[in-house]
Amino acid sequence: MTRVLHVSDLHYGTREDPAMELALTSLLERVRPELVVASGDLTHRGRRDQHERAAGFLRSLGVPVLAIPGNHDIPYTFPARFTRPWEEFERLWETTEPSYRSDGLFVLGLNSVRPWRHQSGALRRAQLRRACETLAEAPAGAFKIVTFHHHLLGAPWRSTKKPVSDRNSVLATLVDSGAQLILAGHIHQAAVSERREFEVTEGDVRAVVVSIAPGLGQPRPRRRGEARGLHVYAIADEAIAIETYIWRVDDWGLTAVRRFPRGREPLSVDPVP
Ligand SMILES: [Fe+2]
Ligand SMILES: [Fe+2]
Repeated sequence: MTRVLHVSDLHYGTREDPAMELALTSLLERVRPELVVASGDLTHRGRRDQHERAAGFLRSLGVPVLAIPGNHDIPYTFPARFTRPWEEFERLWETTEPSYRSDGLFVLGLNSVRPWRHQSGALRRAQLRRACETLAEAPAGAFKIVTFHHHLLGAPWRSTKKPVSDRNSVLATLVDSGAQLILAGHIHQAAVSERREFEVTEGDVRAVVVSIAPGLGQPRPRRRGEARGLHVYAIADEAIAIETYIWRVDDWGLTAVRRFPRGREPLSVDPVP
């Protein structure tokens, strides 16, 4: 069993919560993930001190971290937003498109942030092409995860934020390249779905699960529909279980467990009991 812990939207520079951070450390001791994925908006305004606090916290977890930028992780000042958008992120994380590989796991981060857009994001064709080539090099049998900040699925509770642009072809391209789980954030609420729950597909195609993590931070505490939380993926041979933990005043509560076929083979549909 391989476990990955997924946090998103920490928004350092707004409300920081030592009690939550401490409780996350003890949750990690129980979950024992191989990797922590942080899917963007690590900071609120992309400032150096915010990046340093976010990276300091993530690195204090004692587990390898794969971090990608969100739309809040670039400067809000001009011309830095356009002339050196990734400077602080790369100073701390080296690259905006990292990868992680082990015998059982292959994780690829993509940068969906576009400095000239405030909220919406996109992946360029060349980026997707490179992603496909990288995924093709993954060890046979490794579980393949792709992550970028902008969501593919929109939860209906609050957000009117647009999903990553051209999401149908982004999804199809990544699935064809072997992605089995796609992780994002940005909307500050959980949304989890297997491809066929929202898309009509023809013939036997592989399962892919799209998972949007709730926000770990809460930049606008009065805004309803922005529960704080995180996801844990428990990856076994035949299935993956997605555990949603929500912060409840003073500790993490396991709020949902969703189980999906792993996607190694074309998905069969179990008969109705
Ligand atoms: Fe965010
Ligand atoms: Fe965002």
